[in-house]
Amino acid sequence: GSDEATKNWVLMVTAQCPTNIAVIKYWGKRDESLILPINDSISVTLDPQHLCTTTTAAVSPTFDTDKMWLNGKEISLSSGRFQSCLREIRSRANDVEDQEKGICIKKQDWEKLHVHIASFNNFPTAAGLASSAAGFACLVYSLSKLMNVKEEQGKLSAIARQGSGSACRSLFGGFVKWVMGNEANGNDSLAVQLASETHWDDLVIIIAVVSSHQKETSSTTGMRESVVTSPLLHYRSKEVVPKRIVEMEKAIKTRDFALFARLTCADSNQFHATCLDTSPPIFYMNDTSHRIISYMEKWNQFEGTPQVAYTFDAGPNAVLIAPNRKAASLLLQRLLFYFPPPSDTELSSFVIGDKTIVKDAGIAAMKDVEALPPPSELKGNAPSQRFRGDISYFICTRPGKGPVMFDDEDRALLHPKTGFPK
Ligand code: DP6
Repeated sequence: GSDEATKNWVLMVTAQCPTNIAVIKYWGKRDESLILPINDSISVTLDPQHLCTTTTAAVSPTFDTDKMWLNGKEISLSSGRFQSCLREIRSRANDVEDQEKGICIKKQDWEKLHVHIASFNNFPTAAGLASSAAGFACLVYSLSKLMNVKEEQGKLSAIARQGSGSACRSLFGGFVKWVMGNEANGNDSLAVQLASETHWDDLVIIIAVVSSHQKETSSTTGMRESVVTSPLLHYRSKEVVPKRIVEMEKAIKTRDFALFARLTCADSNQFHATCLDTSPPIFYMNDTSHRIISYMEKWNQFEGTPQVAYTFDAGPNAVLIAPNRKAASLLLQRLLFYFPPPSDTELSSFVIGDKTIVKDAGIAAMKDVEALPPPSELKGNAPSQRFRGDISYFICTRPGKGPVMFDDEDRALLHPKTGFPK
């Protein structure tokens, strides 16, 4: 009868959140459980077209526990980080009504109702690209929409922070600062947008996914060990980062690429130096990462002014930022010259994302990669070696927008009738 019908509804929302790359790094916590950092950090949000998480959050009286699926596989929600995010969002839930479906959820009902969450990354998890940032941002954002949470984006970022620190910066597009804050409860440790993605839209970002079989120390473990053992980390957070934050904000505001590049490279290098200063030392970059740095430094040196900025997180992959399309195509030519693909690779799977950069670089087929001349900074001294296969693939992208909701039910990852994965 009608009683059954009114109990079988499923209500859901689907949202998309971007990843971000820090140009002034977060490394070290002053509070482990609230995830409060020892310094401010600044990031660039990456275009969700190329790198993002999509999440569907659903509620139904038929669900008997909270459940989550990541890339189609059920995962546990028992960790403190998931529990914090769920608790914080639930406690801010409001009344929700869907007249069409005859659904009326009262504020207090949310404590008893269970949720299903399905998440999907549009980039390979195996690539070792930080997926926790987009993942926790999307979890918090989609649940907040489902539960009609009325907090502003900054407050949501402070909740996402409790899932993974870097996730708080994924609640905004463009250029974002995570303000460390100073309250013990963490309420003022949140993200603020410095500029939208349209403010500096000439920038082009190329990610080099470095081939590696090594299992790295997780960021969480690595930074805990650095906080305990690295004197350099404490000097960095107190003396170096505060000044760099001011300078980086200025570089972004005035679109000063030379300043932006110098700060980005210096900060990445200092972060990796604090890892070396940790006992026992942590190595995130490998020989390929180091080679990329040398080639980029040589190019910048030769031109006399920065053509490219590089930055590396807790792994060997390089994120390279060029000031415009012209510089990006010169950058891609260099990368493909030094790191050509193995002979059986398709161009279309070796350079992914925004393919127009490949076209700009004059590369239409693999034979064009093989025919690339040595970069001018080599001054006719052909290198003794090319490192074929040392980079798995490249992703061409740009600064991008923040979270968005999808109205289209086709994009949902859960079945609209059952609330289980499609
Ligand atoms: C090197 O945010 O992954 O990418 O807060 O413990 O989850 P937890 O760590 P996480 O650390 C990111 C570290 C970094 C630098 C950065 O993104 O700022």
